[in-house]
Amino acid sequence: MLEFEIRHKDLMGRIGKLQTPHGSIETPTIMPVINPNLMSIGAEDMKQYGAEMLITNAYIIYRKRDLREAAVKNGIHSLLRCEMPIMTDSGSYQLYEYKDVEVGNREILEFQQSIGSDVCVPLDIPTPPYAKIEKAKDDLEETMRRMREARRIVQNNPLAGVVQGSTFVDLRAESAKRVAALGFDVYAIGGVVPLLASYTFDKLVDIIVASKMNLPLNAPVHLFGAGHPMIFPLAVALGCDLFDSAAYALYAKGKRYITSEGTRKVEDLQYLPCACPVCSSYSVKELKEDVDVLAAHNLWVTYEEMRIVKQSIVERNLWELCERRCRAYPALLNGLKQMTKYSALIERYDPGTKHPFFYLGESSAYRPEVLRYSSRLDRFTLSGNVLITTIPISQEISVIENERFDHVFFVKPPFGPYPVELEESYPVGQAEIPAEIDAEAKTIALQNVLKLLELNKGVRFVFLYDHKWDGHPLIEEIRKYAEVKAALLQKSENLVTLGADERV
Ligand code: GUN
Ligand code: ZN
Repeated sequence: MLEFEIRHKDLMGRIGKLQTPHGSIETPTIMPVINPNLMSIGAEDMKQYGAEMLITNAYIIYRKRDLREAAVKNGIHSLLRCEMPIMTDSGSYQLYEYKDVEVGNREILEFQQSIGSDVCVPLDIPTPPYAKIEKAKDDLEETMRRMREARRIVQNNPLAGVVQGSTFVDLRAESAKRVAALGFDVYAIGGVVPLLASYTFDKLVDIIVASKMNLPLNAPVHLFGAGHPMIFPLAVALGCDLFDSAAYALYAKGKRYITSEGTRKVEDLQYLPCACPVCSSYSVKELKEDVDVLAAHNLWVTYEEMRIVKQSIVERNLWELCERRCRAYPALLNGLKQMTKYSALIERYDPGTKHPFFYLGESSAYRPEVLRYSSRLDRFTLSGNVLITTIPISQEISVIENERFDHVFFVKPPFGPYPVELEESYPVGQAEIPAEIDAEAKTIALQNVLKLLELNKGVRFVFLYDHKWDGHPLIEEIRKYAEVKAALLQKSENLVTLGADERV
């Protein structure tokens, strides 16, 4: 097995160090796709953008006699004139696109070994999304047969096991389980290119999660065909470590300018909204006319985004990066919303403490930290008189109408109640939330108030709330367990007096 050491984690994402026969690389990373027929940007040139590893297509080399002979004689690194680690794909994608691959699994795997590939890939069958279940199952059986064969044939080179199963999450889970049982150096999630092309990011999230949950956590996972930076934060957050990009070249060919938030037609640009070396030194006109220059910009922004993702892992604010990026595009927002459905799962992997929690909209209400907080409300031992207040006021409030409280809890959306003693603590005390709170955050906060009340039935609670919470239906629920008081804030001195709550 390739050695893979995980150095930093956030959500299910990680920064890792992967040893390959051509040296170690840091993940997450993007492998630019090198087409040995074109090589307009040379393989070695990829280093300047930040590439640490490349991917090329063994089938394209195999099919062309001169390339094949040169690769067998001197190796793939000599053919591409580059000493970086090189992963070789098998031609599965050509099989999918053109249906006329004239090579077998054994043949292409032996070829990949003979040219010194740093990661070989078997000839898996990419089943398209929304295929018929029978087809997805048949394809998967054949893919699994080829995986077993690959495991026998490839002994001395690292080998990738590919997960397929179309859009059936059960099949994806089964596929992942079965490849994991065979044991590979890298696991690759395949068959998602059409989902990426159609921006079906919610389905993509389901597929990544179903696969990841059944793959070993200590192995690198490659998401085949995901080369657009707009998907990196989400995919890395869900545990993908390796990406390949043909996008930089394909988009340039289609006169498209990649940004971390999407793609622009280069003809629509009057300014270059980027500070990369290309955009700082070429004119808009030059960019419009030269495909290679445009491809170079696309590479710069691709690697820039991955560095931003990595810094977010170190700072442990990857969720916030996902939120910011996913606001750029409705389809990405679908992806983010889908990710929130897996918060409970992500919570199990997510580190316990991180930088202050920033509330950036409804999706923040469903963050793993919030779920974790709720599940830990039973850790408070309470007795006597307890005040729960939505008003962040000084400790003096512990005396209301001459009543002393043994415990005082503030309410901070979306977490809910927390004891004043945790005012400086992560996550709830330090959480930065906007003055205007949205309905999701309020509801979750009040659900957690209710939970605390239900967990401490013998305790006397007073719940004090301000006008921002007026009319919330859960206040009526809270009334079943607590004495509820509405507070009037006096503008001048921030004083709190109790309003005559006629409902008490
Ligand atoms: N490239 C893009 N998608 C795939 C896939 O599903 N399998 C392989 N082997 N390569 C790919
Ligand atoms: Zn640029």
